[in-house]
Amino acid sequence: MLLDLIKSRKSVRKYSEKHVPDEDFRKILEAGRLAPSWMNVQSWKFILVKSQENKDLLSELSVGQVHVKNADALIVCVADMNAWEEAKITHISKPALNPKLQGENGILIRTLEQLIYPISYMMLEAESLNVKSCIIGALGNEITGVLPEISARAKAKLGLNENQIISTIITLGYEAEYSETNKTRKDFDSVVFLEKIGNKF
Ligand SMILES: Cc1cc2nc3c(=O)[nH]c(=O)nc-3n(C[C@H](O)[C@H](O)[C@H](O)COP(=O)(O)O)c2cc1C
Repeated sequence: MLLDLIKSRKSVRKYSEKHVPDEDFRKILEAGRLAPSWMNVQSWKFILVKSQENKDLLSELSVGQVHVKNADALIVCVADMNAWEEAKITHISKPALNPKLQGENGILIRTLEQLIYPISYMMLEAESLNVKSCIIGALGNEITGVLPEISARAKAKLGLNENQIISTIITLGYEAEYSETNKTRKDFDSVVFLEKIGNKF
């Protein structure tokens, strides 16, 4: 059951030396490729990174997070603003229906929003293959405004253009040693309601 996978998934930050086969990376990336998006805009690119040189650079970009350089591989999730130019939505005149009419900030937010779905799909596909993961959002990019020099270097190294942002990194690998999943989450009744906040479901 999907809910069992969701319950067993946890962020893993210590990885074993064992390599994940390419066919499993391909399945994980395919899960991301098939995710839904606003008017099917697919405003994303995914870069599989396995070289130590690039992992080291991306660890620097992630303010030195060690699991970024120690993971077996990374998926760099790129928010691709260019995709809206290619999208055939110019005939839609209502801003609510057309992110291109929501201004520069609107496009940025919408583009980042689309990435949530493939990232979730990829993490769950990884979990189904017993490949553990951790989302890395603490990094230098145009949104956080930190580490501009490393960000420019990483973008050039990974072949991004100015309309493409390194939004998120997913670390991947086998777990170094098994640890229990400890889901610390708000209670069901404090986040889920029926009809109105305050009414229990
Ligand atoms: C958008 C986002 C950004 C995150 N950024 C980081 C990060 O930079 N480094 C890290 O180690 N974990 C990061 N995490 C992982 C969270 O800390 C983790 O998902 C949360 O504590 C819940 O734990 P669990 O994933 O084990 O259930 C991030 C998670 C999300 C969703």
